[in-house]
Amino acid sequence: MRFLPLADITRIVDSKPWKAHLYVTEHCNLNCSYCNEHDESIPSPTLSQLKQWMKKIRDLGVVYLSLMGGEPLMHPDIVEVVRQAKSLGFEGVGIVTNAFLLTKEMASDLKKAGLDALTVSIDSITPTQSSKKALNLVKNKLEIARDAGIYIAVTGVLLEERLDESEQLIDYCLARAIPVQSRLVHQDNVFRRGMELDRSNSRFEKFLNMERERKKLGLAISSSWNIIDYQQALLHGKPVKWKCLAGYKYFFVSSQGHFWPCSQLRTEKSIMEITGEDLKSYNTAKSCQNNCGVYCIYDVSKTVGDRRESLKAEIKRQFLFYTGNIFSSLWFQFREITRLPWKYFR
Ligand SMILES: C[S@@+](CC[C@H](N)C(=O)[O-])C[C@H]1O[C@@H](n2cnc3c(N)ncnc32)[C@H](O)[C@@H]1O
Ligand code: SF4
Ligand code: SF4
Repeated sequence: MRFLPLADITRIVDSKPWKAHLYVTEHCNLNCSYCNEHDESIPSPTLSQLKQWMKKIRDLGVVYLSLMGGEPLMHPDIVEVVRQAKSLGFEGVGIVTNAFLLTKEMASDLKKAGLDALTVSIDSITPTQSSKKALNLVKNKLEIARDAGIYIAVTGVLLEERLDESEQLIDYCLARAIPVQSRLVHQDNVFRRGMELDRSNSRFEKFLNMERERKKLGLAISSSWNIIDYQQALLHGKPVKWKCLAGYKYFFVSSQGHFWPCSQLRTEKSIMEITGEDLKSYNTAKSCQNNCGVYCIYDVSKTVGDRRESLKAEIKRQFLFYTGNIFSSLWFQFREITRLPWKYFR
């Protein structure tokens, strides 16, 4: 059970940004067919540039920082970047990675630097034409991260040709209590390359239902209910009422220090020039909302947009957790008392 820290509750109700992604490099060791977030021609930022941008991100009020790319483990100073981020006082600092480059030494250094979470992207069990991010190639990396004491989660993109393997991946992770999710591919709004989702394939729906059922059982499916419901609406072509808060509650900073409201909506403005007022100006619906597949932003937008409902749901979750604990503890005491060898007390 994860409690919503005070900082999260504050960000749900105030007008400051909550989460940010920082591209520590746009270089990548892989070339997934669905991805438009890597570019070998862009030089990676230096540690001192990253420090400056992270300080600015924190000063703007961001609570959670996710380091990504490209492939973040390709940055030669990634451990130091994590250390610096932690020293700035972010509530959580995570890395999203394909994990191919993770070594025992790096995992131990990242843990010591204060890394809070490592999200490993895995799409299937065996490599495919579209993605090499396969469990069989990175199983040992999950173990390395776990052995180093790092909190890990797995996230995947649903590949049409390997949907059966996505289900096996979910079961593999759940059996090890690793939070996991696989999501529908999102479209490319930047280069407009065709990454269209085949909505007619009923196996996607079947997969999402499977995730839904496992989540209902309390298993570690990390997609929120918001995201599961939203993906199902996308598949059915149902209109969804929401206001995208990209740029306001959630934003990205590119490997050149540019402010991007999201991975698919990019500006040339330097993050160093961005003010709290600039962020607030993004508290408005976007023209690209229809069929948007940037699920992390949808989730935050929905949580903040329906703040009363979100807070009520959180209070209910915590109440059930506490009362559940009290009752189970009373039951435990009762059982222990009834098991006492009373005969010896006579
Ligand atoms: C851009 S990658 C960067 C970090 C790292 N290279 C990795 O793959 O985890 C961040 C996440 O975005 C996901 N992603 C990239 N393109 C996507 C798309 N078109 N649809 C859905 N997810 C996508 C990746 O699978 C990965 O989980
Ligand atoms: S590994 Fe990550 S950054 Fe690299 S191509 Fe794949 S999704 Fe994109
Ligand atoms: S709707 Fe928002 S999150 Fe989606 S692509 Fe547009 S700006 Fe990005």
